[in-house]
Amino acid sequence: MPWSEIATYLWLLVPVAIYCAVAVVVQVLKARLPVIGAISPAIHLLALGLCLRLAVVYYLPPQVGGPLDPYSVALLIFAGMVLLFQTVEALVLGYFMGRLRNRKLPIVLRKAVLMVAYFVGALIIMHGYLHLNITSLVATSAVVSFVVGMAGQDLLGSILGGIALAVERPITKDNWVVIDGQEGRVVDVTWRRTRIETRDGDFVLVPNNLVMKGTITNFTMPDRRHRLRIKVGVHYRHPPNQVKASILAAARMCPEVLDSPSPSVFVRDFGDSAIIYRLNVWIDGLSRLEHISDEVRTHIWYQFQRDGIIIPFPIVTLHRQPPPADPKQAAAERAERILPHLRAAEVFAGMPPEALHQAAMTFHTATYGEGEVLFHQGDKGSSFYIILSGRASVIVQLADGTQTRLATLGPGDCFGEMSLLLDQNRTATVRLEEDSEVIEVRRDQFKDLVEAYPEVLDYLTRLVQERSRDNRELMALFTDQSEESRPGRMRAVLERIKSVLGL
Ligand code: CMP
Repeated sequence: MPWSEIATYLWLLVPVAIYCAVAVVVQVLKARLPVIGAISPAIHLLALGLCLRLAVVYYLPPQVGGPLDPYSVALLIFAGMVLLFQTVEALVLGYFMGRLRNRKLPIVLRKAVLMVAYFVGALIIMHGYLHLNITSLVATSAVVSFVVGMAGQDLLGSILGGIALAVERPITKDNWVVIDGQEGRVVDVTWRRTRIETRDGDFVLVPNNLVMKGTITNFTMPDRRHRLRIKVGVHYRHPPNQVKASILAAARMCPEVLDSPSPSVFVRDFGDSAIIYRLNVWIDGLSRLEHISDEVRTHIWYQFQRDGIIIPFPIVTLHRQPPPADPKQAAAERAERILPHLRAAEVFAGMPPEALHQAAMTFHTATYGEGEVLFHQGDKGSSFYIILSGRASVIVQLADGTQTRLATLGPGDCFGEMSLLLDQNRTATVRLEEDSEVIEVRRDQFKDLVEAYPEVLDYLTRLVQERSRDNRELMALFTDQSEESRPGRMRAVLERIKSVLGL
């Protein structure tokens, strides 16, 4: 190549130097002015177009520069268009629309809109200015193979997934999610993939097409509250209500367990070696799940220790049938246990110890849970009860359907005497307010008791009279209709009781 020709091409260094200078200036300004950063691709394109134009007009020989002439102009037009689109995007989409709707449009969506605009703009320039046949261009080579290639790599799917995620917004930054089997915090959602930070501190990148294809569990929406379930196995010997109270007390001790919705506990199963309870507590967010479930279980262990509740080992115990218990010995043991309670009960006050012991040998006890109804108003009844431990409510239903609590009875109190003595239906419903143990005395047992110690009848007759004040039906027995004197009325009641008992 002759020297003059080489010198001509050396002049091309001028536009190259200009472009490099512009690139350096853009780089420097980018750090100071963010707006330059936002439109820097357009500035680069513009500089490139101008330098190419300079080379074509001034430095390239006509035989080389001539064919490049329309392309350099097309590049300049395209660069101007990109600059215009980027400015419009930054101002209109980013600022005004963001302010109008009070939230910014997702970045993925903005980028997608821009890409489509560039693509359409480039097609218009190619067709309108360069007079290229776009149909054949699109149909044949580059674009089709680009699209097919992208789809082949799932890239197109990911991009479309990214757009769908941006529009639907099923997940956003900092949400706690399970996506494609991966649990963690969403770090960011880009146009191609979603980044999750797992509990182990690792980043998992899930392509957006998988995010959209699979099931997304979002623990942060509709709100951050989440129900945590904890299973506890407890020995069969402990009454469920006691265990439930113990578990709830332990749960309430944890500061990170929410008060509302309040913790709740259920009997879930009668397992092989334990009764299985399930505690439900609500927590704020999942990030502390492991800490909170550890804390709750730890508190339950200590609470059980204090309350004497046993968590059994999951073992298989081989029970050999014990020899049948001696009924007399069992009755004596039971009598021994309940005698102190009987002595404290007003109904047996003053009863000779020997007679009381004899009676205790015949009584049997029963345990009831909180909320259980011992009998309903209107039921037939032929036994009365003495409370050994716990609390019971006496509730009566009035003619207008309303319910009234007549009394709350505690240890030593008795109830059910009215039906037993007057041979009538129950005048009220008795419901246990807490886990309770009661002695049931049947009519035949009561008859023996009265024969051994008639004073019991006096006490119960007085009780019937007192309690019947609240019962209209019984009132009739005691009201002063027949001008009879009070002792006379009492005698009448006693006579009726004696006839019921066959005394
Ligand atoms: P009974 O009628 O057999 O069944 C309901 C029981 O409730 C009744 O016997 C009494 O023992 C008890 N009862 C009824 N009225 C009252 C009252 N006013 N105060 C306390 N207990 C009552």
